Amino acid sequence: MPDSPSPRSDPAADRARLVARLGELLGPRGLLTEPADTAPYGEDWRRLYCGRPLAVARPADTAQVAAVVRACMAAGAGVVPQGGNTSMVGGAVPAADGSEVVLSLARLNRVRAVDAIDMTLTVEAGVTLKAAQQAAAEADCLLPLSVASEGTAQIGGILATNAGGNNTVRYGNARDLVLGLEVVLPDGAVWNGLRRLHKDNTGYCLRQLFVGAEGTLGVITAAVLKLAPRPRAVELAFCALPSCAAALALFRRLQARDPAALQAFEYMSGAGVELVLRHIPGAALPLAVPSGHYALVELATPRPGAALRAALENVLEGALADGLVTDAVIAGSVAQHAALWRLREAQAEAQKRAGANVKNDVSVPVSKVPELIARASAACAALLPGIRIVPFGHLGDGNIHFNLVQPEAMDPADFLARGDAIMDTVGAVVRALDGSFSAEHGVGRLKPHLMPAWRGGAELATMRRIKAALDPLGLMNPGKVLP
Ligand code: MLT
Ligand code: ZN
Repeated sequence: MPDSPSPRSDPAADRARLVARLGELLGPRGLLTEPADTAPYGEDWRRLYCGRPLAVARPADTAQVAAVVRACMAAGAGVVPQGGNTSMVGGAVPAADGSEVVLSLARLNRVRAVDAIDMTLTVEAGVTLKAAQQAAAEADCLLPLSVASEGTAQIGGILATNAGGNNTVRYGNARDLVLGLEVVLPDGAVWNGLRRLHKDNTGYCLRQLFVGAEGTLGVITAAVLKLAPRPRAVELAFCALPSCAAALALFRRLQARDPAALQAFEYMSGAGVELVLRHIPGAALPLAVPSGHYALVELATPRPGAALRAALENVLEGALADGLVTDAVIAGSVAQHAALWRLREAQAEAQKRAGANVKNDVSVPVSKVPELIARASAACAALLPGIRIVPFGHLGDGNIHFNLVQPEAMDPADFLARGDAIMDTVGAVVRALDGSFSAEHGVGRLKPHLMPAWRGGAELATMRRIKAALDPLGLMNPGKVLP
């Protein structure tokens, strides 16, 4: 069957023809069409959106991805690339009208190469971040990217959304780790840019165009990632603090001591840790007395004999003496290390279990984090008495998840109906502090309406021109990023 639209427009018949064509291209293992099979691909992790895929294409290799994209373009059907479907902003859900094909990258799950001399890892888009980390570790290297959803999130989505996570303070965001990409473009052409070069100054940096574009410019099918030396020593401390300002002061002391060793500096509110203790089985506070503020500090180094533990103890003793820290525990075993990280990583899950949430994935200059938390907390409490204010996140890079959970007795739908007002309230503080309305989760389907106010003028106009040049039919992940 040719890849061309039917002469007379009959949407239902066109869609049926497209599904049949995809079946021919992919075979029975490569295409899901039964509603019971496709439904999980229509819903996002937060259950904000309930889309209905026309079908779910599950290609096995890059050539099949290209064939799917060509067939969808020819049929005028939207293509929604999807990795682990862990987006916080509905970035991978299809429309509800059953017109769009979900393109799952899950079967492109091969580690193509790992090279400990070049310090590179070449992986396909459907490899989970955790599997990629393991492949790097087997070569005695570190893939220095870590996010709460790493067991499920896939490299393609991690790159398409320019994920940040816990180690940005030291290694940067996903885009800082990409040396090369393979991308299926909206016209079905395959760009093989899988170069393993640490230096390559040859015109426009195309790979960075696709990183963070959230699948609106093409489909990432494979990547070359930059590896780091594997740490020989890691130390982790969980600290109680009297204020967020004290957390910033502790961060500065650690930076002053050995900036190259600071691998994560995460902030948690007392209310957020309480929710974890209440809703996550097995979670326990490792300190005698609860606090209003906590920090999780991770130091790591590949240098042998760096005496990290002594350095950490030394900084913490000084901070305790000066009242910046009221109590602290240093992980004494692998199990305790995991349990302390769990208090941080389970924040979003605990909040989900506690009721309806509004998330504000915002960033401000690092020095402004205490002011952000104080001002936004006061504004939200005034807007909606009883609202549960549970900010947490990556203080070391200025990215705070200023999340809010519904008041205990409120109807979840009523709370979500106030979502825009809550986001605007937090947004006003973020704007006053020269911040961003989306630090690491992207724009997805949740936030395109904010783009004109935050990224309008020449910036948004240029983005629109790029989109029109690469995807003139507007069929790559429709409705995401651009308003
Ligand atoms: C995290 O850092 O745990 C996530 O980005 C989750 C969230 O924003 O809720
Ligand atoms: Zn985060």
